[in-house]
This record gives sequence, C-alpha cells and structure tokens, in this order.
Amino acid sequence: MTANHASPEPSAVRLPSYTRADQDEILGGGDDPFGVAAVGLTWLPKEEHFGIRHGDRLVAHAGLRRLPVALGTAETEMIGVGGVAVAPDVRGRGLARLVVAAALDHARTMGPEHALLFCRPVLVPLYQRLGWHPLGRDVRVEQPEDRVVTMPLHTMTTPLRDDAHWPPGPVRLLSLPM
Ligand SMILES: CC(C)(COP(=O)(O)OP(=O)(O)OC[C@H]1O[C@@H](n2cnc3c(N)ncnc32)[C@H](O)[C@@H]1OP(=O)(O)O)[C@@H](O)C(=O)NCCC(=O)NCCS
Repeated sequence: MTANHASPEPSAVRLPSYTRADQDEILGGGDDPFGVAAVGLTWLPKEEHFGIRHGDRLVAHAGLRRLPVALGTAETEMIGVGGVAVAPDVRGRGLARLVVAAALDHARTMGPEHALLFCRPVLVPLYQRLGWHPLGRDVRVEQPEDRVVTMPLHTMTTPLRDDAHWPPGPVRLLSLPM
C-alpha cells in the first residue's frame, strides 16, 4: 500500500470489544461469512481482539483466547486464534498478515508455548505464508452434550516461544473450539 497523507500505513490495534455488528461491518451480514457452517460445530467466542481501522471503518480483525489442551498425557494451555477477517474490498494488501501478527505479539506475552487455529483447506497456504505449520494429525474437540469430535477443519500451529516443544501423542482441546 502506498503511504501518503490521505491514506496512512495501516496499523493494528487492540480493540476494547468486538461485536457481531463489528464482524458484519468487516464481512457483511451473511449467514456463513467464514464458510464453516457446513461442519456444524459450536464455537467459543474469542476473548481478546485486534483490528485495523480505515478512518471510521473497521476493516480487519483477529481474535484469540486461552484454551486448555491435552497433549499426549500432559495438560497444558495454548492460545487459540480465530475470527480472522478482512473486508472484501481491501483483501490482498497484507491486512490479515498485519492483524494476525498483532494478535500473536500479544499471545507471546501470555505464557503458552503454541498458538493454534482451525481453517478450511483452501487457507492452509495463506497461513503457511504467515509462518504457521499444518499440525498433520487429528485434533479432538469438545462439543455440547459431552460429545468429543474430530475437528474436520485443518489445524495449524505456530510457536510463541523460542523454547517451544510439541510433545508426541494425541491432541485434544478440553473445551469447545474457538
Ligand atoms: C482469509 C483472509 C482473512 C485473508 O485476508 P487478506 O488481507 O487478503 O490476506 P493478506 O493480504 O494479509 O495475505 C496474507 C498472505 O497470504 C498470502 N496468500 C494469499 N492467498 C494465498 C494463497 N492462496 N496461497 C498462498 N498464499 C496466499 C498473501 O500473498 C500474503 O503473503 P505475503 O504477505 O507474504 O504476500 C480474507 O480472505 C477473509 O477475510 N476471508 C473471509 C473470512 C475467512 O475465511 N477467514 C479465515 C478464518 S480461518
């Protein structure tokens, strides 16, 4: 994007709140803006929100939340990232890169070794460009009524610390997915 006084370089900021109206402002008010309704899962809202504004308009968002996870026999925590969204008319300009980087900068202050996200197969190359790696194994997640299901979307992870280590063994979120 060209920097000039009329159009300053975008920057991502922490948002004090993020409502459905904010999401609609970015993605429009469609029924399935993330294209994941077909998987039929129940999701957790995110707890922290990062966004990019163009003037008065919110044009990008990434959210995160702390999640309890069982990795092999150990219980730990990870940072789940989700709700990544860029307004259709400003895609392809690096705004997802910028807003996800802001979310990860914050995640690095929270303690867990890894961040994790779920995405449709078509987005795997994009997240790889952003430094995420396909986990390459199934992840079990909780659902209402004490159900535990295999996540049908792809799982991507990225380390949050230099000493991050992913132990072998099954991966299970001890919560709904985010
Ligand atoms: C997915 C989405 C957030 C991407 O936003 P965006 O602002 O266009 O993404 P960016 O411009 O920051 O692109 C990020 C990087 O991925 C790269 N990229 C984009 N499409 C790619 C593809 N198909 N294959 C490989 N890399 C790709 C870009 O070149 C860029 O890399 P670079 O910075 O090294 O050039 C946006 O399309 C969107 O909001 N979609 C609808 C909601 C959704 O599905 N969200 C994802 C939830 S998991």
